[in-house]
Amino acid sequence: MTQKVAVLGTGKIGEALLSGMIRAGWAPADLLITARRPERAEELHTRYGVTPVTNTEAAKTADTLILTVKPQDMGTLLDELAPHVPADRLVISGAAGVPTSFYEERLAAGTPVVRVMTNTPALVDEAMSVISAGSHATEAHLAHTEEIFGAVGKTLRVPESQQDACTALSGSGPAYFFYLVEAMTDAGILLGLPRDKAHDLIVQSAIGAAVMLRDSGEHPVKLRENVTSPAGTTINAIRELENHGVRAALIAALEAARDRSRELASGNNA
Ligand SMILES: NC(=O)c1ccc[n+]([C@@H]2O[C@H](COP(=O)([O-])OP(=O)(O)OC[C@H]3O[C@@H](n4cnc5c(N)ncnc54)[C@H](OP(=O)(O)O)[C@@H]3O)[C@@H](O)[C@H]2O)c1
Repeated sequence: MTQKVAVLGTGKIGEALLSGMIRAGWAPADLLITARRPERAEELHTRYGVTPVTNTEAAKTADTLILTVKPQDMGTLLDELAPHVPADRLVISGAAGVPTSFYEERLAAGTPVVRVMTNTPALVDEAMSVISAGSHATEAHLAHTEEIFGAVGKTLRVPESQQDACTALSGSGPAYFFYLVEAMTDAGILLGLPRDKAHDLIVQSAIGAAVMLRDSGEHPVKLRENVTSPAGTTINAIRELENHGVRAALIAALEAARDRSRELASGNNA
């Protein structure tokens, strides 16, 4: 039997997911989308051949609903959907920081909910998507969610209690690397290199390091030691990083991100 999947609130993340699913082999005819603006729905129809529907139609007809509106729009969307979603439909939330209990309280009793925190590399099929089951989600629901988000990168299952920590690591993670590249490019300029050349040197070094980390099976300490020769250049740089407390700063930064994720999850949007 064909499974229909609907993406509700197809913005940047929803579109990245939709396009990844089509590249991974989903038939556009089995994909429904909803958008707030008709011109956005039409754009997605033209670009991907998917069928625009209303939120209510999606709720009634899709086997799996993927909700990718902003967290602050989720309450309104659920109010609209709740009377129409049969309790055997899988509801996947892509909204940062919204707990599965938020959905379970608003949808029919027993509705399976899976929470996913992905990240912006979903746009280039290199996402890290962290998946947690709500109270009524089964192994089959988790596997189906992995299949969908596997179209745009890697997936990892964690208990929902670890979602805030994962938001700090991988949800916000790309931003830390962008920040590092920005700072290292500034250093290149200080050392007399043109900005574009400094940028290329740092970005390619980042890609090389990332592929080695992923593919070599080596611990990061070993990989760093391999480029840290006695009385060499790298150890001089490492000493400065230690002197400036960069390791401690990173630990504190990620702890702060985790704390903010907790605050947002408890409804403090200030
Ligand atoms: N971007 C990220 O870095 C990132 C990373 C991980 C997770 N997320 C999560 O992914 C979700 C989407 O983020 P995004 O960056 O893709 O946001 P986005 O581009 O603003 O996409 C959300 C879309 O939902 C539409 N929308 C809002 N209410 C709607 C409704 N009632 N019915 C139908 N469509 C509706 C919006 O329409 P309009 O265009 O008219 O506003 C918008 O196109 C968020 O919950 C976020 O927490 C984002």
